[in-house]
Amino acid sequence: MAHPLHLTITVDVLASETELTSAEALVWQQARAATDHAYAPYSHFHVGAALLLEDGSVFQGTNQENAAYPSGLCAERTALFGLAASKPQSRIVGMAVAARPARGDFGPAMPCGACRQVMTEYENRQGQPIPLLLPGPNATIYRFRSLGDLLPFQFSADDLPAR
Ligand code: THU
Repeated sequence: MAHPLHLTITVDVLASETELTSAEALVWQQARAATDHAYAPYSHFHVGAALLLEDGSVFQGTNQENAAYPSGLCAERTALFGLAASKPQSRIVGMAVAARPARGDFGPAMPCGACRQVMTEYENRQGQPIPLLLPGPNATIYRFRSLGDLLPFQFSADDLPAR
């Protein structure tokens, strides 16, 4: 017999930045600061991502566009790929994303599907949930408890045939 499978994802909705812990405020501010380094001459949409590492340092990524449009990459993936390529031993203990128009205020931003897939795999790879801060509507902050919460039924290495 078919039966419904109910999924539960808990998101903490913070009313404003004042509700962030000091570690969260650091990664949040670094995601916002990173938007200054976006290369987005086509979309004029500046996205920043920041990864808080176990040693207290922060690694940033920004969207990098290209005249051949599909060759560009989102901020979330430049951050994760850049960290894995340059500091492969790092453990990520938090992540934040920020976005704004080239000349304008910060607004809501949710990672695209391809980034969610990549975020999930890096989280699985380190075997420890990574909390995520995203800008929600009306200056709220959405705090997800795990990157994987953004992509239920994700494709994973476990789905690949054994070899
Ligand atoms: N973008 C990101 O960097 N992250 C997202 O999650 C969504 C979109 C970038 C890609 C492109 O440079 C611009 O935003 C407009 O889509």
